[in-house]
Amino acid sequence: MKVALGVTGGIAANKAAEIVRLLQDCNVQVQVVMTRSAQEFVRPLTFAALTGRKVITGMFGPEGAESVPNLDSAVEHMAVAQEIDALVVAPATADTIAKLAQGIADDFLSTLHLATKAPVIIAPAMNVNMWEHPATQANLAILRERGVHIVEPDSGYLACGMIGSGRLAANETIVSAVMDALHATRELAGETVLITAGPTREPIDPVRYIGNRSSGKMGYALAEAALRMGAKVILVSGPTALKPPEPVEFIAVQTADEMRTAVLSKLEQATIVIKAAAVADYKPKQVASQKIKRKGPLTLELEPTADIVAEVGQRRDRQLVIGFAAETENVIENARKKLNSKSLDAIVVNDISKPGIGFDSEDNAVTILTADREIEVPKASKQQIALEILKVVSSLEQRRSAPQRTSR
Ligand code: PMT
Repeated sequence: MKVALGVTGGIAANKAAEIVRLLQDCNVQVQVVMTRSAQEFVRPLTFAALTGRKVITGMFGPEGAESVPNLDSAVEHMAVAQEIDALVVAPATADTIAKLAQGIADDFLSTLHLATKAPVIIAPAMNVNMWEHPATQANLAILRERGVHIVEPDSGYLACGMIGSGRLAANETIVSAVMDALHATRELAGETVLITAGPTREPIDPVRYIGNRSSGKMGYALAEAALRMGAKVILVSGPTALKPPEPVEFIAVQTADEMRTAVLSKLEQATIVIKAAAVADYKPKQVASQKIKRKGPLTLELEPTADIVAEVGQRRDRQLVIGFAAETENVIENARKKLNSKSLDAIVVNDISKPGIGFDSEDNAVTILTADREIEVPKASKQQIALEILKVVSSLEQRRSAPQRTSR
């Protein structure tokens, strides 16, 4: 999740540093954008150090008497409009609120506001008379009407010496409004979720392998959803064309053996294991060292790969273990057998005989089986399915006994 944090010029600008930190705690990457007057209150270096990235201080690169306008900077900066999942302005001055309400685009922040389609959250902070002024209230009404989320300021002692409304809302309130806009929760905060995704490739010779049609989309969607729910994520992936979501610990593997090694090496750190990968059940007994020449019929002798999820089911101590099942017949019955024989806490079954779901499609439709439940999740995007799966996982987690949870 990426958020642009617009910091405008007010005494509350120094609180934005804490907002950055709280967003980072929620797995959110933050790109700070400062107006010219914000830089009178806090130095960009503070935010650059916190975020580890350049702070955007002007449309054409850094603003200042001796700076040279740079068109490349403008182009590079505008990419932010497409990349972000939300724009939050905190603190927002009366001046910036007026600009945003009227669609003025005379600096980077106000231009970004017009250029992005991401949800916008505004946390005003100003003198009480400015806050109550009909012009400010009219501008806020325009923004609310457009769907902008206004985080109402608190009342109290203001920096200008007056008492009344206009104090920047608590940082936690602002961050919680951002997380709502991102549809993100903290349900899995404190958990480390180890997810496997994609296919494995079992080599036959230096150029050929046994593989399958798994694209990795289901597993990567789970990784993204787990991040949104506040978890730390370790993603062990077979070869896919996908970019891993950030921030995850990413381990790329090719074969079932490599996946097994990676999963077992990370098992101790994990509190939840989800095996969405389509692991080959068989591998060639011998791998030819040279490319096999074409000469009549050929028989490959195969041997079973290690059943990783079953081994995890046996070795785990405190981890929840969730398997997947790709079935074409007797779907629920076969999946329930896997749930029991592999000592899993839940199994997510997809009927891969149905068109438009399962392997290499954008959507899926699953049934989640636990010891005592059978939850149907109808066809939806893999992102949506991932969220539904993790809600069930989170409920299983909550049902676990207190002594086990405290042993972490
Ligand atoms: O990657 P996508 O294109 O998005 O497609 C998603 C998916 C269809 C691959 C995914 O939803 C899915 O069903 N993954 C599991 C596929 C599978 O291998 O199912 P299975 O019924 O053969 O295996 C059962 C479970 O055992 C799975 O959790 C699997 O990861 C695990 N397994 C299987 C073999 C093996 N040697 N080791 C394992 O751990």
